[in-house]
Amino acid sequence: MKIAVTGKGGVGKSTVAAALALLMAGKGERVLALDADPDANLASALGIADGERAGILTVARQKALVEERTGAKIDGYGQVFRINPEVSDIVERFGHLHRGVSLVVMGAVTAGGSGCACPESTFLAALVRDLVLRRDETLIMDMEAGVEHLGRATARGVDVMLVVVEPGARAVESARRISAMAREIGIADIRLVFNRVRSRSDEEYLRTQLSGIGVLGVVPYSERLIEADRDGIAVTDALDPEVLGRFSAMVAVLGGQ
Ligand SMILES: Nc1ncnc2c1ncn2[C@@H]1O[C@H](COP(=O)(O)OP(=O)(O)O)[C@@H](O)[C@H]1O
Ligand SMILES: [Mg+2]
Repeated sequence: MKIAVTGKGGVGKSTVAAALALLMAGKGERVLALDADPDANLASALGIADGERAGILTVARQKALVEERTGAKIDGYGQVFRINPEVSDIVERFGHLHRGVSLVVMGAVTAGGSGCACPESTFLAALVRDLVLRRDETLIMDMEAGVEHLGRATARGVDVMLVVVEPGARAVESARRISAMAREIGIADIRLVFNRVRSRSDEEYLRTQLSGIGVLGVVPYSERLIEADRDGIAVTDALDPEVLGRFSAMVAVLGGQ
């Protein structure tokens, strides 16, 4: 199962991605978690301690590797480079194993002075393609608010895209835009995850605003999630049973597909 998680910044993508990854790994699945958000914070949501986190290498920052694999100089201009770089060893080289979840932090492309980040973005897109289309672990991708790095071929391999949304006009607006983009590149199954829901009327608001898109689950507002972030513990640790149950129900639905 290949799952992409998107939504507006701050809406709870890393929280949802980490909870699903930890619960699936807890059931004995081999889980690969890809942090593909430039504002990378999946490691802390998984509960990886500060010191350990500092040791995780970000793939996009491996300049020499990207140059070697694409055959191009990163700051060069108008170069010919390989569009199918070798990436099959990246998980083994950069993956960080934590509670049965192998985390790969992808990082972002920085265009820099030259204005062209083609070799790097080609390399990262090849990595995502490889993880989605070639590897057989369960994949959970924590993405930014969009479908960057997902070409049409890769999109076909994504089983489900989860669009996290909270009760608010801006998050709803982003969810609509992302869902339209996802559909456009050919992702067949797009589901909403309502997050930070405080009341029946919050849920009704979201259902009305986003009618027509399926809902995978509803996560209530939880002080425990805020404390987990503050204290650097995994999102699923010490979570109220009710909220944990919501995440488990989502895992059950996804597993039953
Ligand atoms: N259901 C929730 N209730 C309360 N706080 C939440 C909830 N979900 C996420 N948060 C908090 O919101 C903040 C942003 O969540 P995060 O998952 O990092 O968002 P994103 O990855 O989309 O930027 C974190 O402090 C997190 O603990
Ligand atoms: Mg995040």
